[in-house]
Amino acid sequence: AAVGKGNYRHFMEKELHEHPVVLGDTLRQYIDPASRAVALPELPFDPVAVPKISFSACGSAYLAAQVGRYWIEQVARIPVDADIASELRYRDPPLPEGGAALLVSQSGETADTLAALRLLRERGQRVLSVVNVAESSMARESHGTVLTVAGPEIGVASTKAFTAQLAVLASLALGFGRARGTLAPAEEARLTAALLEVPAHAAALLEDSSEILELAREVAQARDVLFLGRGSLYPIALEGALKLKELSYIHAEGYAAGEMKHGPIALIDPAVPVIALCPSGPLFEKTASNLQEAAARGGRIMAFTDAAGAPALRRFAERVVVLPAVDPFVAPILHAIPVQLLAYHVAVLKGTDVDQPRNLAKAVTVE
Ligand code: AGP
Repeated sequence: AAVGKGNYRHFMEKELHEHPVVLGDTLRQYIDPASRAVALPELPFDPVAVPKISFSACGSAYLAAQVGRYWIEQVARIPVDADIASELRYRDPPLPEGGAALLVSQSGETADTLAALRLLRERGQRVLSVVNVAESSMARESHGTVLTVAGPEIGVASTKAFTAQLAVLASLALGFGRARGTLAPAEEARLTAALLEVPAHAAALLEDSSEILELAREVAQARDVLFLGRGSLYPIALEGALKLKELSYIHAEGYAAGEMKHGPIALIDPAVPVIALCPSGPLFEKTASNLQEAAARGGRIMAFTDAAGAPALRRFAERVVVLPAVDPFVAPILHAIPVQLLAYHVAVLKGTDVDQPRNLAKAVTVE
């Protein structure tokens, strides 16, 4: 049956509001809510013996893969590469015997990612695809598939499929960590519990987006916008910039917060809003000090954080949006939602075609 917009103005708005359900449905596939244990499906490689994991994907799916890299390295201690699919063949990385290739794609039809899949298969890698469409080309051509349970995504800008990809990748990381013995049982229980709480936090966040709408009014005036984050929030900063560009046509860049002082800080100017993703946790102090440097040079800092991080940021930030407090492990999932909402509201304010931005296609089937 055709998917409708229901009472929403755009498919994107509807799909943003599906985050809680999609996250819950996806997590329940891979984590048993009763025992809180990760239960992975059969995989085409052994996570205990695998020498390396090579991620390949495009656009937002590539950014999800970058978060996946942080997670897998952190909890499973497996070396991971993450490549933009269209660049993989030119980099021609050495691939170990028995290595695993992880392809991430909503459509399962993206030509660049499919070409990377075929190359990785030819080079003897065991291919697992994370796709949203079970009968897609990538699912067919892989040794194994894990599904995101996002349902059809109609808006060209990826929203719920992106967070569902994160939910799958976090579950895989925990499952790999358990299998390898690099994740202590108590830590596994803590992190799975944190993951299972994400859908409820996402629902709370979506209930009232008035602060994000206010922020959107300022961002809509800007010609250039910077997004900053550190660690697993760095790919989410890139995602925020990508979403804003594709939906509102405002020029935006994402940077690792610590990289600012190596060049981008020259762009700091009151006309360039700086959107900071700065949850409390081990990287908070360093990120906050990078932001403070930008504020001292006239930068207008608009920060997303939690209750513990808010007081320190309020000393120099122009706006602080407080998100639900979560374990730092799951913070990238929770921060992805407000940056998508921000891009959505800015696009609506600017009157652009939210569901069908210019020059873009939902699935890019040319290389
Ligand atoms: C996301 O908002 C984009 N429209 C785009 O970057 C997309 O994620 C990319 O083209 C990959 O598509 P896929 O997940 O279907 O492979």
